[in-house]
Amino acid sequence: MQDGSKAIFIPFFIVIRWNILRIKLKSPQRSIYDPSLAGRRSTTSFPTPPQKDDDNSSVSYVDNVTGKVIVPGASSYNGLNLVPQMGWDNWNAFQCDVNESLLLNTARAMVDYGLRDLGYQYIVLDDCWSIGRNESGYLVADHTLHSMGMKFGMYSSAGIMTCARYPGSLGYEQKDADLWASWDVDYLKYDNCFNQGQSGTPQISFNRYNVMSQALNKTGRPIVYAMCNWGQDSPFDWAYGIANSGRMSGDVSDTFNRPDSRCPCTESIGCSWPGFHCSIMNILNKMAAVQSRTMSGYAQDLDMLEIGNGGQTDSEYVVHFSMWAINSSPLLIGTNVLTLSPANLAIYSNPAVIALNQDPSATAAIRKWRYLVNPDEFGEGEIALWTRSLDNGDQVIALLNAGNASMMMNATLNDIFLDLRTAGAYQAPPQLDEIWDVYDLWANRMSDAEAAAIINGTSMTVTDNTNGTVTRYNATATSYAQGLMNNDTALLGAKVGSIGPMGTWSAMIPRHSVGLYRLRQRTSDLRKRDEL
Ligand code: GLA
Repeated sequence: MQDGSKAIFIPFFIVIRWNILRIKLKSPQRSIYDPSLAGRRSTTSFPTPPQKDDDNSSVSYVDNVTGKVIVPGASSYNGLNLVPQMGWDNWNAFQCDVNESLLLNTARAMVDYGLRDLGYQYIVLDDCWSIGRNESGYLVADHTLHSMGMKFGMYSSAGIMTCARYPGSLGYEQKDADLWASWDVDYLKYDNCFNQGQSGTPQISFNRYNVMSQALNKTGRPIVYAMCNWGQDSPFDWAYGIANSGRMSGDVSDTFNRPDSRCPCTESIGCSWPGFHCSIMNILNKMAAVQSRTMSGYAQDLDMLEIGNGGQTDSEYVVHFSMWAINSSPLLIGTNVLTLSPANLAIYSNPAVIALNQDPSATAAIRKWRYLVNPDEFGEGEIALWTRSLDNGDQVIALLNAGNASMMMNATLNDIFLDLRTAGAYQAPPQLDEIWDVYDLWANRMSDAEAAAIINGTSMTVTDNTNGTVTRYNATATSYAQGLMNNDTALLGAKVGSIGPMGTWSAMIPRHSVGLYRLRQRTSDLRKRDEL
């Protein structure tokens, strides 16, 4: 967390005279970002001889093109974002209608509602910010997101203009990065509009985005670099070495599964026109083929959350949140927090689901199977099983019913552990012979009454995690990883059954809903007792 004494201080003349200042500003003294501050080795700024990696005991090697040291598995190019970023971004709900008080009031509400302490720390000012200033001349004036324990994100584009046609940063990367660093910015969302045709191959896009990556590193300030190139030119294959997250699809819209010709691709591979107006199901399914490229330090960004914007039902929003969480997408609240309903606060606040997103494995889920069934009025209908292995050996299963009728759905241990089969000669993995306890991660969703009490300020404040509540969690006080080691019940949901050896988990899943479960292997002692 940032030093509370640092204020964010942005005189408006700097903002509106940005182009002029690009020429006039003196280059600030260059310091080199010290990745040891973040506890990880940089693979970008500090070429060092090949050596053992402390974290995963693998050997690093030198990239024969760049000459830089690569540490397999260590991932984060700058030591930041080892688990996906969480926060709020104004775009989905407000577009260009932004001002200082919106940001500060949102930040305050997020602190009051416990959202900051669940991990939502970044306040990201999206496009059009050069008009977001107050009368006394400050965009975010003399107050401090940092003193509230929040972090500050800004936006620009790797083009001559942003998507809303404000000045972009192409050609001015170092000057702009230095300016943001001088404003104590913690995060950059970097868009893809008006890129002067500098796209079309992975190498061209890599080169364009890499300039800002290097520029941010050179500022000496740890700044999370969130690439927003919509999956163009296969960032799945190159962005992990230069950025902390990368959008993998065209823009999300607040619709569950409605096809839209402005979002023409149904697969991420070879999608040359990502577009916008993409539905939740469209984006989710585009993750399936590229999920292996999500890793600690590089999250694939499924785009900002729409929960609260009114276009979907409660259960559809639960699907949206669940699937974004298990795929280690950044979780950026994209609605008006100041008018959040209790039901929507309850979705954003489920610690058992957020713990999946913040799991140190930082991997995405695997879609084990998908069948097209029960189409709705858009001709869309499908069911799918998504699974994921977590850092401590627990498993996640998501039985997703995106069809138009309730269905009894099944997840077999065989499907869950499919990838543990030995290549070549098949050997059944030992996990198939174990007993797995099943925890329903939405069973303890906070009631609307409890969420309403949080919103109207009459609920308790969660300062630590000794309060016995199963609905609330303070990750500022205890990390999710530590909470899981402590078996904190707020992170486990409610136990609803178990799966025996070679068994199957079956559940009735209503239309446009998901059954989301954590599986935990029963200890051998317990198992012996069970078998007696
Ligand atoms: C692009 C991005 C969006 C948003 C807008 C702002 O479309 O993908 O997330 O930032 O630009 O203009």
